[in-house]
Order: sequence, then C-alpha cells, then structure tokens
Amino acid sequence: MRKPFIGGNWKMNTDSASAAELACGLSRNLDDVCNEKVDVTVCPPFVYLSAVKKALGPCQIGLGAQDVYFEPKGAFTGEISCSMLKDVGCSHVIIGHSERRHIIKESDELINRKLSAAISSGLLAIFCVGELLEQRNAGKTNSVVAEQIKKGMAGIGLEKACAVTIAYEPVWAIGTGINATAQQAQEVHVMIRELIAKLYDKSFAQQIRIQYGGSATAANAAELMSQPDIDGLLVGGASLKLEDFTKIVMAAAERKII
Ligand code: 13P
Repeated sequence: MRKPFIGGNWKMNTDSASAAELACGLSRNLDDVCNEKVDVTVCPPFVYLSAVKKALGPCQIGLGAQDVYFEPKGAFTGEISCSMLKDVGCSHVIIGHSERRHIIKESDELINRKLSAAISSGLLAIFCVGELLEQRNAGKTNSVVAEQIKKGMAGIGLEKACAVTIAYEPVWAIGTGINATAQQAQEVHVMIRELIAKLYDKSFAQQIRIQYGGSATAANAAELMSQPDIDGLLVGGASLKLEDFTKIVMAAAERKII
C-alpha cells in the first residue's frame, strides 16, 4: 500500500520568526507519526529554508522548495539551482505549481526541464497539474491534465519517474474554499494512474503517489483521503496553521479507505 504523503506549501507567506515557530511546532506535534505512518514535507519560501531546516531539527519532516531552476549555476539572476536547494537541506521541490503556470506563465517545456534537472540532482519532485474552471466546464479536465503530465514528464524514464509525486490541483479549487469533492478528485486520480500505466507500466502506476490539492482542510482531509487513489494532500492555506496541519497529518496517518 502507498504511504500517505502530506505536503505543506507555504507559498509567499510567513516571516523568519513565524516560519521557525511553525516548524518547531510541527516537529513537536508530528515527530511520532512522521515517516512510519505518513510522509510529511513542508515547503517554505526560499529565504526561510535554512531557518526552517534548523527549527525542524532531527525530526523526519522533509524540507521542500517551491520552485527551482534547471541550470546548475551561472548568470541567471534571481534563480536558485538544485544543488543550492540540497545544500540548505531540501529533500523535495514543488514543480509546475498552477500559480507558476498561470501567473508567472511557466510553459510545459520549462516545467519539463525543471523536473528533469531536479530528479537528476537527487531531489524528490512534487509535480503539479490541474485544469482551470473553464476547462472543467468544457469537459476538458482529463485531456488538459493528461497533456500536462505527458509534456511535463517527457523524456523522464522509469528510474527517474520514481522520484516524482504527482499533485492534482484543480485551479478553481486553490485558495477558493471550494475543494473538489472526493469523487471528483478520485476520478481524475484514476485517470492519472491509468495514464502512468500507459506511459510507464502497471506496477509503477500502482506505486506512484498522487496527492490532491485545493482548499484541503482539517475538515475535509479524511474524506478526501478515504478514496483509494488519493494518496495524500498538498495543502496551502491550512498548512500555515499549526493545529490544522497537525490534524490533516493525523487524518492521513489514520487513513481509512472506503
Ligand atoms: P490551498 O490549500 O490554499 O487551496 O492551496 C492549495 C495549493 O495550491 C497547494 O499547492
């Protein structure tokens, strides 16, 4: 069975004091369940990665960045390389988040280069995909998500694909308080798993973890994760609240599939 995986995407939030405080609280609350029953990774802004790493201490909570650049070093003002992320203790990196796709205008091609570079460097990737509301309303959810996966994972062989967690995050559910229903999310997760079976093989499709993201909260976490193909959550707003994120991780640790 796939171990549940909860990610906290702090986005452009916190400051040095609140980031460290949140990380301390998480390490206190979650050390017992982390790793054994559930994998947990928090993704603070770049500038607080080191402080959060220090505050997490020896606990098993992973550290992730919210983005990375594909070049190893050089004249790329403002960008951050994979080796820099590893240097400050990152195990994970989020790639292709919808806010980067739609606000920063990242292309599938750029996302593919980032994903490939991240995995080659030894980082674990949380690769985000998801449709806009108008695409869902036009019945295009499956084709949009499938295209993002095919283009994003192009040229990434099975060995490297093992370092990928896919996060299905419908854009209309992000930050809106309107989560996809467990059924809606499950349907897309099944489609993604079938696509992975075609692109790679059936056994890998059963191994790869697929998170859901978009207005996941302490109140809906258990229901979302009761679906057999929802292997965890990528949490935005609720990951900034110690109590809420703790409850979400606990719900994952006690996950009951229906
Ligand atoms: P919210 O949980 O705030 O909707 O954000 C989800 C998300 O974008 C996580 O990456």
